[in-house]
Amino acid sequence: MNWQVPLADLDYGPEEEEAVLGVLRSRWLTMGAVTKDFEGRFAERHGVKHAIAVSNATQALHLACVAAGLGPGDEAIVPSMTFVATANAVRYTGAEVRFADIIGPEELNLSPAGLKAAITPQTKAILVVHYAGYPCRMEPIREIARRYNLFLIEDAAHAPGASLNGKMLGTWGDAGCFSFFSNKNLSTGEGGMLVTDLDDVAEKVRLLRSHGMTSLTLDRHEGRAYSYDVVGLGYNYRIDEIRSALGLAQLAKLDAGNARRRDFTHRYWDGLAGTGLGLPFLDTAGEPSYHIMPILLPEGADRKAFIDALRADGIQTSIHYPPVHTFTHYRERYPDVSLSETETAAAREVTLPLYPGMGAEKVDLVVEAVKRALDGPTRRIQI
Ligand SMILES: Cc1ncc(COP(=O)(O)O)c(C=O)c1O
Repeated sequence: MNWQVPLADLDYGPEEEEAVLGVLRSRWLTMGAVTKDFEGRFAERHGVKHAIAVSNATQALHLACVAAGLGPGDEAIVPSMTFVATANAVRYTGAEVRFADIIGPEELNLSPAGLKAAITPQTKAILVVHYAGYPCRMEPIREIARRYNLFLIEDAAHAPGASLNGKMLGTWGDAGCFSFFSNKNLSTGEGGMLVTDLDDVAEKVRLLRSHGMTSLTLDRHEGRAYSYDVVGLGYNYRIDEIRSALGLAQLAKLDAGNARRRDFTHRYWDGLAGTGLGLPFLDTAGEPSYHIMPILLPEGADRKAFIDALRADGIQTSIHYPPVHTFTHYRERYPDVSLSETETAAAREVTLPLYPGMGAEKVDLVVEAVKRALDGPTRRIQI
């Protein structure tokens, strides 16, 4: 479909083309110097000691769960208001997931009280998700993690360049995981990064990213090593130089892109005030990355009619998220989960277009279409 306003769009230009050509001309494609540079600059930008690039955030989350020591018989607490990868990463280790509720419609992030209530003697880790790049309440959450000796993982897939009280998201816990999937604020097609200040976690993750091998292909190519040992059961979760080069070009644009997302989000909030829509995170703390633009339809509104009305105007929308505990796979494993705030907010949620190159005119166009849809088809079918 040829959207008049797509949900997301790449902020790509000659910089990315040059970056890829540079790698092709270097004749070295697998993880090497460009990846090291990307990791170094990402770590610097996020004020963290170690950044380890992988092929996607799901792998970063999995490695964080392995570093947490999760395994059969353990539990990790996760929100259900997230992409399924957050919960899957826990399950890959054989540990069980315990879902905790969000705060409410104004703040779609994990509730510290809900988190505390979900702790059992089996709990070993917490995974928080900075929904849309808006900071979770990291001070009480970190306090809970400390008190109960739980490994704290931040799913910062939406949150590169975001901070709370001057501290970057992804660096509040023991490990932070970022996604560079094509619709993200920093896009490489597929890609991810694990950050940590803990030397032992970094060492373990670096090894497990590449089969537990003690040297890389590049080390052998350049004569720094001639063989290797395998010191653990690892994976092939390596990124490649082409995507790291894209990552470097995108990192240079990140702050400007996040600032444009912020301007467009505020324009949305101003334009949609008084429409009866719920506007989550209006009173946000910190400096978010404004990854997506969630709205909550009035209770009882017909969401499908609303989405269809926008589609008829050429405007693409999405839903973030169908709660993980409601998916067949998870419902069959955990049939008794009930999360009232998550279920109510998720049923009302629609995501509007947001991307750095959008322009104020397109924000206004979407705002007008939203108002028309609310007055027309959405309301007519309202219960
Ligand atoms: C909150 C969240 N966590 C994890 C992921 C997984 O990221 P990736 O696609 O890089 O594996 C995503 C991707 O959409 C996400 O939105």
